Amino acid sequence: MENQKVIFTIFGGTGNLTYYKLMPAFYQLFLGGRLLNDMTIIVLGRKDKDTSMYREEVKDVLMKKVSNFNESVFVAFSAMLQYYQMNFEKAEDYTEFNTYMQSQNCPNRIFYLATAPTFFPLISEQLRDKKLLDVKGYVRAVFEKPFGYDLESAEKINDIISDIFGEDYIYRIDHYLGKEMIQNINTVRFSNQIFSAVWNKDSIDNVQITVKEKDGVKDRGGYYDQAGALRDMVQNHLIQILALVAMEPPKRLDNQSIKEEKVKVIQNLNVQMDLESHNGLIFGQYEGYREEVKVDPNSNTETFVAMKCFVNRPRWEGVPFYLRTGKALDGGEAKIVIEFRVDGFDTPSNTERIPNLLVIKIQPDEGVYLRINTKEPRSESNLMSVNLSYCQSCDIFYKSPDAYERLLLDIINGDTAMFTGWEEVKSAWELISEVIDKCPTKSPYLDTYPKGSDGPMSAHNMLKMDGRHWWRLDDLNNDFD
Ligand code: BG6
Repeated sequence: MENQKVIFTIFGGTGNLTYYKLMPAFYQLFLGGRLLNDMTIIVLGRKDKDTSMYREEVKDVLMKKVSNFNESVFVAFSAMLQYYQMNFEKAEDYTEFNTYMQSQNCPNRIFYLATAPTFFPLISEQLRDKKLLDVKGYVRAVFEKPFGYDLESAEKINDIISDIFGEDYIYRIDHYLGKEMIQNINTVRFSNQIFSAVWNKDSIDNVQITVKEKDGVKDRGGYYDQAGALRDMVQNHLIQILALVAMEPPKRLDNQSIKEEKVKVIQNLNVQMDLESHNGLIFGQYEGYREEVKVDPNSNTETFVAMKCFVNRPRWEGVPFYLRTGKALDGGEAKIVIEFRVDGFDTPSNTERIPNLLVIKIQPDEGVYLRINTKEPRSESNLMSVNLSYCQSCDIFYKSPDAYERLLLDIINGDTAMFTGWEEVKSAWELISEVIDKCPTKSPYLDTYPKGSDGPMSAHNMLKMDGRHWWRLDDLNNDFD
């Protein structure tokens, strides 16, 4: 760890992300002795409160959210926290803020913008104009997702911020990249000959990427109704996962080479946009969504998306990548299923031949499963399908760090590997903008689904039309009982 004093400033300090994600992550880092002792975390907010009130609020959140909460650790941790009241939309507030920052006498500054993207240019320009970036040490700028609303707005933001901070000092967050099992994709792929040798169209029939959420939009209706699942989840998290699965082996397993390979995948990704026949792109909305707080009662915003994509590169010719994500579904889970082809081996007529499956479980459980066929004991030649499974999160002594712990530490250490580069973000917006342009009004194609279901039937029919189905882990696990 760089042993350098730093001030970590958070814009949007009274937002949910700061309370529920950043503070617990900072607390865990502190508890694990991984934070610099002389670091100061300054949270900015409009609301009229002082540091001790803010610390109390954080304490309440941590007591509920963190199972290993400890009073005396919190007291030491909270000494790092300061609340600073300002309206970041007001240019004049930055002059005073600069004076305050100077009084902290710290050469290094990190600015974390946990605000809506529309404020990224304004905040960045004010920081520059009011000399808050004029320090002896380093300045790093962190931008929460969503990075823009569409390609045009993302480009505008990027032009401004890259001019002010420089690409090497910009950290665009996609918190999925900080998740343990997402980081494990490269290892599973490239460190195992049994997978790396067959990672192509000759052996793989299709790839399924599922990120389901149990909760609806909760109190984020205002934001979500403008975004929808396509912008909120597919443009970033799902495309990032797909890119890691589909990229060519990079020259080196380093940051730059991986980013370059991911960009090539995203630029060569085609979504099958056959809306009329419901084959390729499915939009869904959960029943009751229009009654959610701050949601337009006539909203056509999708809370569910399923799509079929093809990666236009020789390795993946003809291999569908099925993606699906949605809110208010039957459970929260994220997983990648790689379904292998079934070859011409004669299967006994009374047994079904199950394809080999490689499953990378991302959350809530973390693990890797491999499904293989064996002979049923005592039968002559009947097939039986079994799981070889590794459940990382089943070990009671193991607790994965939250994605934000990893990402915050990387920011403090100046490591940009787990953050998205502009070319990736741009290519992903190009793709999503194409989808949005093709179907500007989604209403005729918006299928409703009951809360707690596994999404609209059309998402199942899409695979059925291809002679396939979504793999449920429950089904796989039952066989394992
Ligand atoms: C965020 C989305 O990026 O990811 C949210 O804005 C979503 O809508 C969240 O709920 C899901 O993250 P996780 O880590 O809970 O799977």
